[in-house]
Amino acid sequence: QNTAAREAAAPATAPAVTSDRIQQHRRYLMCRPGYFTVSYEINPWMHQAVPTDTAKAVQQWQTLYDTYLALGHEVELIDPVEGLPDMVYTANGGFIIDGTALGVRFSVAQRRGEEQPFMDWFAANGFDVVRPTAIQEGEGDILLVGETILAGYGFRSDVASHAEIAKVFGREVVSLKLVNPSFYHLDTAICVLDPVQGPGGVEKANIAYLPSAFDDASRAVLAERYPDAIVVPEADGAVFGINAASDGRNVFISPRATGFDALLRERGYHPVHVDLSELLLGGGGIKCCTLELRGGRS
Ligand code: ARG
Repeated sequence: QNTAAREAAAPATAPAVTSDRIQQHRRYLMCRPGYFTVSYEINPWMHQAVPTDTAKAVQQWQTLYDTYLALGHEVELIDPVEGLPDMVYTANGGFIIDGTALGVRFSVAQRRGEEQPFMDWFAANGFDVVRPTAIQEGEGDILLVGETILAGYGFRSDVASHAEIAKVFGREVVSLKLVNPSFYHLDTAICVLDPVQGPGGVEKANIAYLPSAFDDASRAVLAERYPDAIVVPEADGAVFGINAASDGRNVFISPRATGFDALLRERGYHPVHVDLSELLLGGGGIKCCTLELRGGRS
């Protein structure tokens, strides 16, 4: 395929599609927000004084669930637990590669009750569970990009957890320091767009990110490792727009993230809009409600 020729032949008004993105199969873990509310404040997005509508949260969540299924993905469900309103944010329930599920240890007391239910679910569903010793909040702060693990710290996860993560999964872990309290988890500042599958497996992986969420050293690391990354505009970060899931082609994003949407289209991705405005009252979005299950069955 001659990309340059194809682009040259396209009319000037057409979006500059530089590649044919390939959708990969995903298996996710989600939790219906049956007990969702804001009964404490553990991030700058949460305000107890602002009323929440649990039925609306469930409805919006259902749309995300239905959207994943409609595109052919698999979604497993963990039962919500009364009194654990943040359990809907399953990205914080663990981190899983090749059937090994590393459990979490929350830095915040309000969410510690979720640790055991998630580990029990992993064990009951065929995953090898590793109980963590260091404080880390799962896929909220740990992202797999190609063969590399990016791990955030600064607000929730302890940097000491990164050595544990490297040991459990036998992979390189790149530590990234978050500096803006509004972007307190790594998945609020980085979106993993793909591994691009080549004949020999994962060839190239790309990300989208918000540079201002990181300290200078981390920003330099990201720029060096991901020269082709989508640099997301501040305005999209400010509406929690980076908190998105991707299957390599479809990128599930907030309808508020209009700048990010345009950049994704330019690169040949297919943005799919899902509005989780009610769940944003808890400081979470699409990616927060989505935990990727890698491996774990024959
Ligand atoms: N209220 C939740 C908390 O502060 C929101 C978690 C968002 N999750 C995420 N993966 N960013 O813990």
